[in-house]
Amino acid sequence: MNALEIRNKYLDFFKRKNHKIIPSAPLIPENDPSVLFNTAGMQPLVPYLLGQRHPEGTRLADYQKCIRTNDIEEVGDNRHLTFFEMLGNWSLGDYFKEESIKMSFEFLTKELNIPVEKLSVTCFGGNKELGKDEESAKYWENVGIPKEKIYYIKDNWWIAGETGPCGSDTEIFYDTGKPKCSPNCNPDCDCGKYVEIWNNVFMEFYRQEDGTLMPLQQKNVDTGLGLERVNMLLQGKETPYDTEIFRPIMDKLEELQKVDDIYSRRVVAEHLRSSIMIISDGGRPSNLDRGYVLRRLIRRMIRQMNKLQIDLDKLSELIELNINILKDMYPELLKNKEIIKTVILEEKDKFTKTLMHGEKEFIKEMEKIKKAEKDTIEGKVVFKLYDTYGFPPEVTSDLAKENNLKIDLDGFKKLFKEHQEKSRAGSEQKFKGGLATTGEMETKYHTATHLLNAALKVVLGNHIHQRGSNITSERMRFDFSHNSKMTPEEKQQVEDLVNKWIKEAIPVEKMEMKKDEAIAMGAEAMFIEKYGDIVTVYKIGDISLELCGGPHVSNTSELGIFKIKKEESSSSGVRRIKAILV
Ligand code: ALA
Repeated sequence: MNALEIRNKYLDFFKRKNHKIIPSAPLIPENDPSVLFNTAGMQPLVPYLLGQRHPEGTRLADYQKCIRTNDIEEVGDNRHLTFFEMLGNWSLGDYFKEESIKMSFEFLTKELNIPVEKLSVTCFGGNKELGKDEESAKYWENVGIPKEKIYYIKDNWWIAGETGPCGSDTEIFYDTGKPKCSPNCNPDCDCGKYVEIWNNVFMEFYRQEDGTLMPLQQKNVDTGLGLERVNMLLQGKETPYDTEIFRPIMDKLEELQKVDDIYSRRVVAEHLRSSIMIISDGGRPSNLDRGYVLRRLIRRMIRQMNKLQIDLDKLSELIELNINILKDMYPELLKNKEIIKTVILEEKDKFTKTLMHGEKEFIKEMEKIKKAEKDTIEGKVVFKLYDTYGFPPEVTSDLAKENNLKIDLDGFKKLFKEHQEKSRAGSEQKFKGGLATTGEMETKYHTATHLLNAALKVVLGNHIHQRGSNITSERMRFDFSHNSKMTPEEKQQVEDLVNKWIKEAIPVEKMEMKKDEAIAMGAEAMFIEKYGDIVTVYKIGDISLELCGGPHVSNTSELGIFKIKKEESSSSGVRRIKAILV
């Protein structure tokens, strides 16, 4: 079995158990500025866990692309991954503990044919707030897990962040068959004997700002099964790098390398895959937030390629190969191949310009430290390497490790935060803007975005597609696919056309329909994959038809006068228009 087959088996199984299969949301959450990336399958479903009705019903299942960035510097060991796929099934106030446990057990033992002897489970061990979960333990015993393989653990509680929907969980572990590291060795021990494969969260509470728990309107189940891990275990491999997901890239790196280092090969393979996935979902490198995560991944990868002495000109070939490996699981990569290459290669060029100077600077600092008989690189030096030479802390950390030194990461983080706060002040209206707020002006700008998209198609051609947008109450920004600078005439024509449509007072209609139907009608969407089977479509006369969550004005006459303030390059093959309504 391979990863794709496991995914298909999972979705088929839950379909047979009356679940609706919903698409993976993009890695970059659209309506939730509080997180940089989706880190779990439940994240795009929060409103429904809190009680909003989901158009597909109360039983859902999907695969979700996830990025977790807590441990970037750990990547290179045998288990940490930044990008991974989570298979999940949800009950939104439908089934609860018993049925969830029965289904998980059935899937693992009947569909994946894992022998019962290989399974151990943990249940919530109780704390000041709540008693221990004997109910789940009983259901596990009923399905056939022997009592001595059911453990109570106090930490079996799951929440994404500090506040939000949460609850106790029961976790399922695969016993690798390695000997116990001590007589007390249990699934909570990370010696490697037990590997967690599935987490079933019984989400029945909301953790409030003041720290207290409030019961939710409904009792939900939220589960997450780590695809790369299960795939690795079923294939009897020690690391995900030994499975089909990474093997061809690892082999290629081995073929290209002049210096042998498995750690570096893993970093390159892992960061390349994550970068490809992030860029495909719209991420671009920058020094802020998610852009900075992407930058760190690409730069650390480049330095490890240098360590392996792999010619950086091979990067393009490696990207091709990686997309080829991943395309059956993530078909959207084929469509985005060119932009993925452009973004990674541009970032490589930027970084290699300063890399040599930075390494020289590092050596100077290292000599100073060694002379002073110290072993730690101070935060301010880590920051200087970042600020002047573009070294993310992971790169400095790698260099330090190679030279038996440590780095003061906390010191760096403090300086970095101060620096970010300065650069964010004023310029970062982004988190307030976008889709997060829906004031009157923002609503108007949303509708203007659809008109602009349509006008650009008329004036420049049908190759125009939206690549991003950002709205505040003051202005709109619209990114679109186009290769050349717009002429003053083209800009004027676009502006005139939008204003003509505004004058024509065209009604804006909201419709709900099947996704297939919307596509058949020619509706467009920035991320078609992220929508479920039933979609909301906004129609503006014969001018525009777009899948969109809204909100919008009800008539174009409400918009006033549309003015293009600026047209500029955003990134390769993408132009950006800034416009206002007056
Ligand atoms: N949301 C749960 C997790 O991420 C299932 O582990």
